[in-house]
Amino acid sequence: MQSLREVDVRDKRVLVRVDFNVPTDKKGNIIDDTRIRESLPTLRYLIDQGARVIAVSHLGRPKGKPVDEYRMDKVAEHLSHLLKKPVVKVDDCIGPKVKEAIEAMKPGDIIVLENVRFHPGEEKNDPEFSRQLAELADIYVNDAFGAAHRAHASISGVATLLPSVPGFLLEKEVTMLSKVINGAEKPKVAIVGGAKVSDKLSLLKNLVKNIDVLIIGGAMANTFLKAQGYNIGKSVFEESLVGKAREIIDYARACNTQLLLPVDVVVADHFAEDAEHKTVPVDQVPEGWMILDIGPETVKKYQEYIDQARTVFWNGPMGVYEFEAFSSGTNGVARAVASAAAISVVGGGDSLAVVYNLGLQNGITHISTGGGATLEFLEGKKLPGLESCDCRQQLVG
Ligand code: 3PG
Repeated sequence: MQSLREVDVRDKRVLVRVDFNVPTDKKGNIIDDTRIRESLPTLRYLIDQGARVIAVSHLGRPKGKPVDEYRMDKVAEHLSHLLKKPVVKVDDCIGPKVKEAIEAMKPGDIIVLENVRFHPGEEKNDPEFSRQLAELADIYVNDAFGAAHRAHASISGVATLLPSVPGFLLEKEVTMLSKVINGAEKPKVAIVGGAKVSDKLSLLKNLVKNIDVLIIGGAMANTFLKAQGYNIGKSVFEESLVGKAREIIDYARACNTQLLLPVDVVVADHFAEDAEHKTVPVDQVPEGWMILDIGPETVKKYQEYIDQARTVFWNGPMGVYEFEAFSSGTNGVARAVASAAAISVVGGGDSLAVVYNLGLQNGITHISTGGGATLEFLEGKKLPGLESCDCRQQLVG
Protein backbone atom coordinates (compact mmCIF):
# COMPACT_ATOMS: atom_id res chain seq x y z
CA MET A 1 0.00 0.00 0.00
CA GLN A 2 1.45 3.31 -1.11
CA SER A 3 1.23 6.58 0.71
CA LEU A 4 0.22 9.73 -1.10
CA ARG A 5 3.78 11.06 -1.11
CA GLU A 6 4.97 8.00 -3.04
CA VAL A 7 2.50 8.49 -5.88
CA ASP A 8 3.39 10.56 -8.92
CA VAL A 9 0.41 12.87 -9.21
CA ARG A 10 1.88 15.49 -11.57
CA ASP A 11 -0.57 16.28 -14.38
CA LYS A 12 -2.82 13.48 -13.17
CA ARG A 13 -6.54 13.86 -12.56
CA VAL A 14 -6.91 13.12 -8.84
CA LEU A 15 -10.36 12.51 -7.40
CA VAL A 16 -10.23 13.41 -3.70
CA ARG A 17 -13.12 12.26 -1.49
CA VAL A 18 -13.29 14.82 1.29
CA ASP A 19 -15.82 15.19 4.07
CA PHE A 20 -17.13 18.71 3.56
CA ASN A 21 -20.30 17.82 5.47
CA VAL A 22 -20.07 20.95 7.60
CA PRO A 23 -22.77 22.41 9.83
CA THR A 24 -24.69 25.18 8.08
CA ASP A 25 -27.49 27.56 9.03
CA LYS A 26 -30.87 27.69 7.23
CA LYS A 27 -29.39 29.90 4.50
CA GLY A 28 -26.57 27.43 3.87
CA ASN A 29 -23.90 29.59 5.55
CA ILE A 30 -21.09 27.56 7.09
CA ILE A 31 -21.17 27.62 10.89
CA ASP A 32 -18.00 25.60 11.50
CA ASP A 33 -15.37 25.08 8.79
CA THR A 34 -13.11 22.66 10.71
CA ARG A 35 -13.60 19.81 8.25
CA ILE A 36 -12.74 22.05 5.30
CA ARG A 37 -9.61 23.40 7.01
CA GLU A 38 -8.53 19.89 7.98
CA SER A 39 -8.61 18.82 4.34
CA LEU A 40 -6.21 21.60 3.29
CA PRO A 41 -2.90 19.71 3.80
CA THR A 42 -3.95 17.06 1.26
CA LEU A 43 -5.47 19.53 -1.19
CA ARG A 44 -2.52 21.96 -0.98
CA TYR A 45 -0.05 19.11 -1.43
CA LEU A 46 -1.82 17.90 -4.57
CA ILE A 47 -2.06 21.44 -5.94
CA ASP A 48 1.64 22.08 -5.25
CA GLN A 49 2.54 18.80 -6.94
CA GLY A 50 0.74 19.93 -10.10
CA ALA A 51 -2.19 17.51 -9.92
CA ARG A 52 -5.60 18.38 -11.34
CA VAL A 53 -7.58 18.18 -8.15
CA ILE A 54 -11.22 17.09 -8.25
CA ALA A 55 -12.77 17.34 -4.77
CA VAL A 56 -15.99 15.47 -4.10
CA SER A 57 -18.10 15.32 -0.95
CA HIS A 58 -21.58 14.92 0.44
CA LEU A 59 -23.36 17.63 2.40
CA GLY A 60 -26.40 16.82 4.53
CA ARG A 61 -28.82 14.06 3.66
CA PRO A 62 -30.58 15.07 0.41
CA LYS A 63 -31.75 11.46 -0.18
CA GLY A 64 -30.64 10.93 -3.77
CA LYS A 65 -31.99 14.10 -5.40
CA PRO A 66 -30.86 17.72 -5.79
CA VAL A 67 -31.80 19.92 -2.82
CA ASP A 68 -30.76 23.58 -3.07
CA GLU A 69 -29.96 23.88 0.62
CA TYR A 70 -27.28 21.19 0.21
CA ARG A 71 -25.48 22.55 -2.85
CA MET A 72 -21.70 22.81 -2.55
CA ASP A 73 -21.42 26.43 -3.80
CA LYS A 74 -20.76 28.02 -0.40
CA VAL A 75 -18.29 25.29 0.49
CA ALA A 76 -16.39 25.85 -2.78
CA GLU A 77 -16.42 29.61 -2.17
CA HIS A 78 -15.03 29.14 1.32
CA LEU A 79 -12.42 26.67 0.11
CA SER A 80 -11.28 29.23 -2.46
CA HIS A 81 -10.92 31.78 0.35
CA LEU A 82 -8.86 29.36 2.47
CA LEU A 83 -6.65 28.22 -0.41
CA LYS A 84 -6.33 31.78 -1.69
CA LYS A 85 -6.91 30.59 -5.25
CA PRO A 86 -9.86 30.16 -7.60
CA VAL A 87 -11.96 27.05 -7.08
CA VAL A 88 -14.36 26.11 -9.86
CA LYS A 89 -17.67 24.63 -8.71
CA VAL A 90 -19.37 22.23 -11.14
CA ASP A 91 -23.13 21.68 -10.91
CA ASP A 92 -23.02 17.89 -11.06
CA CYS A 93 -20.60 15.20 -10.00
CA ILE A 94 -20.78 12.93 -13.08
CA GLY A 95 -21.56 13.36 -16.77
CA PRO A 96 -20.49 15.47 -19.76
CA LYS A 97 -20.43 18.88 -18.03
CA VAL A 98 -18.12 17.56 -15.35
CA LYS A 99 -15.84 15.93 -17.94
CA GLU A 100 -15.70 19.18 -19.88
CA ALA A 101 -14.71 21.13 -16.75
CA ILE A 102 -12.00 18.59 -15.95
CA GLU A 103 -10.63 18.72 -19.50
CA ALA A 104 -10.24 22.49 -19.14
CA MET A 105 -8.14 22.12 -15.96
CA LYS A 106 -4.45 22.90 -15.84
CA PRO A 107 -1.96 21.27 -13.46
CA GLY A 108 -2.46 22.75 -9.97
CA ASP A 109 -6.11 23.65 -10.62
CA ILE A 110 -8.88 22.52 -8.28
CA ILE A 111 -12.59 22.00 -8.80
CA VAL A 112 -15.35 21.04 -6.40
CA LEU A 113 -18.07 18.73 -7.70
CA GLU A 114 -21.73 19.01 -6.73
CA ASN A 115 -23.00 17.08 -3.70
CA VAL A 116 -22.43 13.41 -4.48
CA ARG A 117 -25.60 12.44 -2.56
CA PHE A 118 -27.76 14.18 -5.17
CA HIS A 119 -27.50 10.84 -7.02
CA PRO A 120 -29.21 7.78 -5.51
CA GLY A 121 -26.29 5.62 -6.68
CA GLU A 122 -24.00 7.14 -4.05
CA GLU A 123 -25.61 5.70 -0.93
CA LYS A 124 -26.48 2.45 -2.74
CA ASN A 125 -22.82 2.02 -3.68
CA ASP A 126 -24.14 1.44 -7.19
CA PRO A 127 -21.44 -0.03 -9.48
CA GLU A 128 -22.52 2.05 -12.48
CA PHE A 129 -22.41 5.28 -10.46
CA SER A 130 -18.99 4.28 -9.08
CA ARG A 131 -17.81 3.69 -12.65
CA GLN A 132 -19.02 7.13 -13.73
CA LEU A 133 -17.13 8.74 -10.85
CA ALA A 134 -14.01 6.68 -11.51
CA GLU A 135 -13.86 7.63 -15.19
CA LEU A 136 -13.31 11.25 -14.17
CA ALA A 137 -9.87 10.54 -12.72
CA ASP A 138 -6.59 8.62 -12.87
CA ILE A 139 -6.03 8.35 -9.11
CA TYR A 140 -8.37 8.25 -6.10
CA VAL A 141 -7.45 9.77 -2.74
CA ASN A 142 -9.69 9.11 0.25
CA ASP A 143 -9.40 11.88 2.82
CA ALA A 144 -12.97 11.70 4.16
CA PHE A 145 -12.41 10.18 7.58
CA GLY A 146 -15.75 11.58 8.82
CA ALA A 147 -17.58 9.47 6.22
CA ALA A 148 -15.34 6.38 6.46
CA HIS A 149 -18.13 4.40 8.12
CA ARG A 150 -20.34 4.68 5.02
CA ALA A 151 -20.04 2.02 2.30
CA HIS A 152 -21.01 4.50 -0.40
CA ALA A 153 -19.90 4.71 -4.04
CA SER A 154 -17.52 7.65 -3.59
CA ILE A 155 -15.93 5.89 -0.62
CA SER A 156 -16.03 2.17 -1.37
CA GLY A 157 -17.02 1.56 -5.00
CA VAL A 158 -14.69 4.02 -6.67
CA ALA A 159 -11.71 2.78 -4.68
CA THR A 160 -12.00 -0.63 -6.35
CA LEU A 161 -11.78 0.96 -9.80
CA LEU A 162 -8.83 3.36 -9.46
CA PRO A 163 -5.39 3.26 -7.86
CA SER A 164 -6.30 4.39 -4.32
CA VAL A 165 -4.36 6.01 -1.52
CA PRO A 166 -5.36 7.58 1.79
CA GLY A 167 -5.05 11.33 2.20
CA PHE A 168 -3.15 13.00 5.04
CA LEU A 169 -6.22 13.66 7.21
CA LEU A 170 -7.37 10.05 6.97
CA GLU A 171 -3.89 8.88 7.93
CA LYS A 172 -3.70 11.34 10.82
CA GLU A 173 -7.09 10.28 12.20
CA VAL A 174 -6.21 6.59 12.03
CA THR A 175 -2.81 7.16 13.62
CA MET A 176 -4.17 9.28 16.47
CA LEU A 177 -7.30 7.25 17.21
CA SER A 178 -5.22 4.06 17.13
CA LYS A 179 -3.20 5.47 20.02
CA VAL A 180 -6.32 5.31 22.20
CA ILE A 181 -6.89 1.63 21.47
CA ASN A 182 -3.46 0.21 20.58
CA GLY A 183 -1.07 2.86 21.88
CA ALA A 184 1.67 2.02 24.33
CA GLU A 185 1.57 5.38 26.15
CA LYS A 186 0.03 4.27 29.47
CA PRO A 187 -1.88 4.92 31.60
CA LYS A 188 -4.61 5.39 29.05
CA VAL A 189 -7.70 7.19 30.33
CA ALA A 190 -11.01 7.56 28.49
CA ILE A 191 -13.76 9.92 29.63
CA VAL A 192 -17.11 9.08 28.13
CA GLY A 193 -20.23 11.14 28.71
CA GLY A 194 -23.47 11.95 26.99
CA ALA A 195 -27.04 10.94 27.45
CA LYS A 196 -27.31 7.29 26.56
CA VAL A 197 -25.47 4.09 27.39
CA SER A 198 -27.31 2.54 24.43
CA ASP A 199 -25.46 4.83 21.95
CA LYS A 200 -22.09 3.94 23.38
CA LEU A 201 -22.37 0.35 24.56
CA SER A 202 -19.93 -1.05 21.96
CA LEU A 203 -17.57 1.88 22.55
CA LEU A 204 -17.53 1.29 26.32
CA LYS A 205 -16.88 -2.43 25.86
CA ASN A 206 -13.99 -1.89 23.49
CA LEU A 207 -12.48 0.85 25.63
CA VAL A 208 -12.70 -1.24 28.81
CA LYS A 209 -10.51 -3.95 27.34
CA ASN A 210 -7.95 -1.59 25.83
CA ILE A 211 -7.42 1.19 28.38
CA ASP A 212 -6.51 1.55 32.05
CA VAL A 213 -9.14 3.93 33.41
CA LEU A 214 -12.69 4.50 32.15
CA ILE A 215 -14.36 7.63 33.51
CA ILE A 216 -18.09 7.98 33.08
CA GLY A 217 -20.23 11.11 33.27
CA GLY A 218 -23.38 12.62 31.80
CA ALA A 219 -26.82 11.09 32.01
CA MET A 220 -25.32 7.72 31.07
CA ALA A 221 -23.61 7.68 34.47
CA ASN A 222 -27.10 7.57 36.02
CA THR A 223 -27.70 4.13 34.50
CA PHE A 224 -24.40 2.96 36.02
CA LEU A 225 -25.28 4.49 39.40
CA LYS A 226 -28.63 2.71 39.27
CA ALA A 227 -26.79 -0.54 38.46
CA GLN A 228 -24.77 -0.01 41.62
CA GLY A 229 -27.92 0.38 43.67
CA TYR A 230 -27.92 4.15 44.21
CA ASN A 231 -31.15 6.06 44.56
CA ILE A 232 -31.01 8.58 41.69
CA GLY A 233 -34.34 10.33 42.36
CA LYS A 234 -36.10 11.19 39.12
CA SER A 235 -32.88 11.40 37.07
CA VAL A 236 -33.04 10.25 33.46
CA PHE A 237 -31.66 6.73 33.01
CA GLU A 238 -32.14 3.72 30.74
CA GLU A 239 -33.97 1.05 32.65
CA SER A 240 -33.43 -1.60 29.98
CA LEU A 241 -29.67 -1.05 30.12
CA VAL A 242 -29.09 -1.35 33.85
CA GLY A 243 -28.10 -5.01 33.29
CA LYS A 244 -25.66 -4.03 30.52
CA ALA A 245 -24.15 -1.37 32.77
CA ARG A 246 -23.62 -4.04 35.42
CA GLU A 247 -21.94 -6.26 32.78
CA ILE A 248 -19.57 -3.41 31.87
CA ILE A 249 -18.72 -2.88 35.55
CA ASP A 250 -17.93 -6.62 35.88
CA TYR A 251 -16.04 -6.68 32.60
CA ALA A 252 -13.90 -3.72 33.72
CA ARG A 253 -13.04 -5.62 36.89
CA ALA A 254 -12.10 -8.71 34.83
CA CYS A 255 -9.93 -6.55 32.52
CA ASN A 256 -8.28 -4.80 35.45
CA THR A 257 -9.58 -1.47 34.18
CA GLN A 258 -10.59 1.10 36.75
CA LEU A 259 -14.12 2.40 36.18
CA LEU A 260 -14.89 5.73 37.82
CA LEU A 261 -18.35 7.09 38.53
CA PRO A 262 -19.38 10.41 40.09
CA VAL A 263 -18.90 10.77 43.85
CA ASP A 264 -20.97 13.94 44.05
CA VAL A 265 -23.55 15.43 41.70
CA VAL A 266 -25.43 18.65 41.00
CA VAL A 267 -29.15 17.99 41.35
CA ALA A 268 -32.11 20.13 40.30
CA ASP A 269 -35.74 20.09 41.33
CA HIS A 270 -36.79 20.10 37.68
CA PHE A 271 -35.23 20.25 34.20
CA ALA A 272 -34.73 23.95 33.48
CA GLU A 273 -31.92 26.47 33.16
CA ASP A 274 -33.12 28.34 36.26
CA ALA A 275 -34.17 25.31 38.32
CA GLU A 276 -33.38 25.25 42.00
CA HIS A 277 -30.17 23.25 42.37
CA LYS A 278 -27.54 22.07 44.85
CA THR A 279 -24.54 19.77 45.10
CA VAL A 280 -24.93 16.54 47.07
CA PRO A 281 -22.91 13.36 47.62
CA VAL A 282 -23.97 10.71 45.13
CA ASP A 283 -25.67 8.63 47.81
CA GLN A 284 -27.84 11.56 48.94
CA VAL A 285 -29.86 12.49 45.87
CA PRO A 286 -33.16 13.83 47.29
CA GLU A 287 -36.36 12.07 46.29
CA GLY A 288 -37.94 13.82 43.30
CA TRP A 289 -34.72 15.66 42.24
CA MET A 290 -32.65 14.93 39.17
CA ILE A 291 -28.91 14.75 38.49
CA LEU A 292 -27.90 17.32 35.84
CA ASP A 293 -24.12 17.50 36.31
CA ILE A 294 -21.18 15.92 38.10
CA GLY A 295 -20.09 17.74 41.25
CA PRO A 296 -16.81 19.55 42.10
CA GLU A 297 -15.38 16.61 44.10
CA THR A 298 -15.94 14.38 41.08
CA VAL A 299 -14.23 16.88 38.77
CA LYS A 300 -11.28 16.95 41.18
CA LYS A 301 -11.08 13.17 41.26
CA TYR A 302 -11.39 12.82 37.48
CA GLN A 303 -8.73 15.51 37.03
CA GLU A 304 -6.27 13.54 39.18
CA TYR A 305 -6.56 10.58 36.82
CA ILE A 306 -6.41 12.78 33.72
CA ASP A 307 -3.27 14.49 35.09
CA GLN A 308 -1.52 11.15 35.46
CA ALA A 309 -2.53 9.83 32.05
CA ARG A 310 -0.19 9.57 29.10
CA THR A 311 -3.05 9.08 26.67
CA VAL A 312 -6.47 10.67 27.17
CA PHE A 313 -9.60 10.33 25.08
CA TRP A 314 -12.73 12.38 25.73
CA ASN A 315 -16.15 12.04 24.16
CA GLY A 316 -19.43 13.44 25.47
CA PRO A 317 -20.51 16.02 28.06
CA MET A 318 -20.62 15.38 31.81
CA GLY A 319 -23.94 17.16 32.31
CA VAL A 320 -26.43 19.53 30.75
CA TYR A 321 -23.63 21.88 29.73
CA GLU A 322 -25.96 24.03 27.62
CA PHE A 323 -27.37 25.38 30.95
CA GLU A 324 -24.76 27.45 32.77
CA ALA A 325 -25.71 26.12 36.20
CA PHE A 326 -24.91 22.58 35.03
CA SER A 327 -21.85 23.25 32.85
CA SER A 328 -19.05 23.16 35.47
CA GLY A 329 -18.50 19.41 35.20
CA THR A 330 -18.10 19.43 31.42
CA ASN A 331 -15.99 22.59 31.46
CA GLY A 332 -13.82 21.17 34.24
CA VAL A 333 -13.16 17.96 32.32
CA ALA A 334 -12.46 19.95 29.14
CA ARG A 335 -9.88 22.08 30.98
CA ALA A 336 -8.30 19.00 32.58
CA VAL A 337 -7.97 17.26 29.20
CA ALA A 338 -6.51 20.37 27.55
CA SER A 339 -3.97 20.95 30.31
CA ALA A 340 -2.90 17.29 30.57
CA ALA A 341 0.65 16.49 29.50
CA ALA A 342 -0.77 13.40 27.79
CA ILE A 343 -1.54 12.74 24.15
CA SER A 344 -5.12 14.02 24.11
CA VAL A 345 -7.78 13.04 21.61
CA VAL A 346 -11.25 14.59 21.61
CA GLY A 347 -14.20 13.50 19.47
CA GLY A 348 -17.92 14.23 19.23
CA GLY A 349 -19.82 17.42 18.43
CA ASP A 350 -20.68 18.43 22.02
CA SER A 351 -17.14 17.97 23.34
CA LEU A 352 -15.71 19.90 20.40
CA ALA A 353 -18.18 22.74 20.93
CA VAL A 354 -17.02 23.04 24.55
CA VAL A 355 -13.34 22.90 23.59
CA TYR A 356 -13.79 25.69 21.03
CA ASN A 357 -16.08 27.74 23.27
CA LEU A 358 -13.49 27.76 26.03
CA GLY A 359 -10.66 28.35 23.53
CA LEU A 360 -8.90 25.16 24.61
CA GLN A 361 -8.20 23.74 21.16
CA ASN A 362 -4.44 24.40 21.28
CA GLY A 363 -4.17 22.16 24.34
CA ILE A 364 -5.60 19.15 22.51
CA THR A 365 -3.27 16.92 20.51
CA HIS A 366 -5.93 15.69 18.12
CA ILE A 367 -9.47 16.91 17.54
CA SER A 368 -11.20 14.25 15.50
CA THR A 369 -13.26 15.35 12.49
CA GLY A 370 -15.41 12.23 12.69
CA GLY A 371 -18.71 11.79 14.48
CA GLY A 372 -20.08 8.30 13.85
CA ALA A 373 -16.82 7.31 12.12
CA THR A 374 -14.75 8.10 15.22
CA LEU A 375 -17.06 6.12 17.48
CA GLU A 376 -17.16 3.14 15.11
CA PHE A 377 -13.38 3.17 14.78
CA LEU A 378 -12.98 3.14 18.56
CA GLU A 379 -15.61 0.40 18.83
CA GLY A 380 -13.19 -1.74 16.81
CA LYS A 381 -15.48 -1.93 13.76
CA LYS A 382 -14.11 -2.23 10.25
CA LEU A 383 -14.80 1.01 8.41
CA PRO A 384 -15.51 0.72 4.65
CA GLY A 385 -13.50 3.85 3.93
CA LEU A 386 -10.42 2.41 5.59
CA GLU A 387 -10.86 -1.09 4.24
CA SER A 388 -11.15 0.26 0.70
CA CYS A 389 -7.73 1.88 0.81
CA ASP A 390 -6.29 -0.81 3.05
CA CYS A 391 -5.11 1.86 5.42
CA ARG A 392 -6.44 0.32 8.61
CA GLN A 393 -4.29 -2.76 8.09
CA GLN A 394 -1.32 -0.66 7.17
CA LEU A 395 -1.47 1.71 10.11
CA VAL A 396 -3.16 -0.24 12.86
CA GLY A 397 -1.49 -3.48 11.91
C1 3PG B 1 -20.82 12.88 9.55
O1 3PG B 1 -21.12 14.08 9.66
O2 3PG B 1 -20.77 12.11 10.53
C2 3PG B 1 -20.37 12.37 8.21
O3 3PG B 1 -20.18 13.40 7.31
C3 3PG B 1 -21.34 11.34 7.68
O4 3PG B 1 -22.58 11.90 7.46
P1 3PG B 1 -23.89 10.99 7.48
O5 3PG B 1 -24.13 10.59 8.91
O6 3PG B 1 -24.99 11.81 6.88
O7 3PG B 1 -23.58 9.77 6.63
